[in-house]
Amino acid sequence: MSSSPQNPFVFGEIIDDTGFVNRTAELDQLVRDLGDGQKIFLLSPRRFGKSSLVATAMLRLKKRHIRTVNLTVSSYSSYTQFLEKFAEKVLRAAGPWERVKDWITKFGREAKPEISYNVNTGEVNLSLGRGSAYDPGPIAPEVFALPGELAKNAGFRMAICLDEFQQISAFNGGSVENVLRNQVQEQREVGYVFAGSQPSLMQEMLSSSRPFHKAGPQIFLDKIAAADWKEFIGRQLRNRGRVLDDAGMDALLQAADLIPYDVQRIAHELWDYAELRDQRQLDASDVNSVIATLVANQSTYYEILWEQLSARQRAALQAMAYRGDSEIYSQAIREEFRLGPASSVQKAIHSLDSRDVLDRYKGRYFFLDPLFPYWIRSRTG
Ligand SMILES: Nc1ncnc2c1ncn2[C@@H]1O[C@H](COP(=O)(O)OP(=O)(O)OP(=O)(O)O)[C@@H](O)[C@H]1O
Ligand SMILES: [Mg+2]
Repeated sequence: MSSSPQNPFVFGEIIDDTGFVNRTAELDQLVRDLGDGQKIFLLSPRRFGKSSLVATAMLRLKKRHIRTVNLTVSSYSSYTQFLEKFAEKVLRAAGPWERVKDWITKFGREAKPEISYNVNTGEVNLSLGRGSAYDPGPIAPEVFALPGELAKNAGFRMAICLDEFQQISAFNGGSVENVLRNQVQEQREVGYVFAGSQPSLMQEMLSSSRPFHKAGPQIFLDKIAAADWKEFIGRQLRNRGRVLDDAGMDALLQAADLIPYDVQRIAHELWDYAELRDQRQLDASDVNSVIATLVANQSTYYEILWEQLSARQRAALQAMAYRGDSEIYSQAIREEFRLGPASSVQKAIHSLDSRDVLDRYKGRYFFLDPLFPYWIRSRTG
């Protein structure tokens, strides 16, 4: 018996080089623009692959000796902590220590942070101020100026990603946006990518009354085309001596609604299913049985979610699950699903959008979790 190879379908983690599907044009653009010191906004609904795209771009930039920094804004609980980690990561990327230490001393004189450096690990630790009353506002401009100063003084380029960028407005309201925008636009040697997973919030940040308006080009990340997935999934299965027929492949991609996370999730389960049975030929019935298992495993979660929804929201979701969003406002559908007047359907849909049950893509609403409609249908069917 041959030992089982690793499952090649990965989800819930950031994908890098080897399992990376398509996105060549976006990748080239991102690498080029960041290398040139541009400020770019990367937008898409959740789980479309922003973080994976940025991670792959950062790897390429590193190979070109560009210093890279990646921060997920939503990981930090306060503005102070965000500024500390920003400074630490920038200093680490700018290292070695010998090169940056003079500059740090200068930065330290003005900002008076506590900075420690571990010679063995190369770790820089920085503390701006303690206590919840500490106001990081006055020092923020200096922290955000750091990448530009270091890059200019040491003669390198830098690329910085601020992921989940829409969360930045949670720290200190508009003033963070103002300070960051002012500093960032001075930094010719530093490329920035601001990635955000709530397009509506990101669009608001980019609107005309806000500091980041017209600060740089916007990239809207699309879904990955079916043809690319077919090639990728087919090749991985073939390498293991298996085939998924055309109808099976279509069933998989349709169930996943071409959302990258869900394509990988279903393909991952299908792989394990085939390994367990040592089955070489796979078709739509195998895909459907894998989907049924996934839906069953999630049912507790779906039930809890369902219980939290209002009657109007449930009715709107049922209509969406059976008919899609195209005619949800039509009289026929509103009557069939007892949705009430169009205005309350609209209200229900909006509230489901802000609860992250639905989202919009190319002007249409869709289920963020494409298996949720399966569960909804399985209950009422
Ligand atoms: N180019 C790609 N090739 C193959 N799989 C991908 C690709 N991009 C994304 N995926 C799949 O989608 C999953 C989610 O990707 P990622 O975390 O990068 O998305 P995201 O847009 O940053 O999501 P979130 O908004 O939740 O942060 C990955 O774990 C992977 O399974
Ligand atoms: Mg992400």
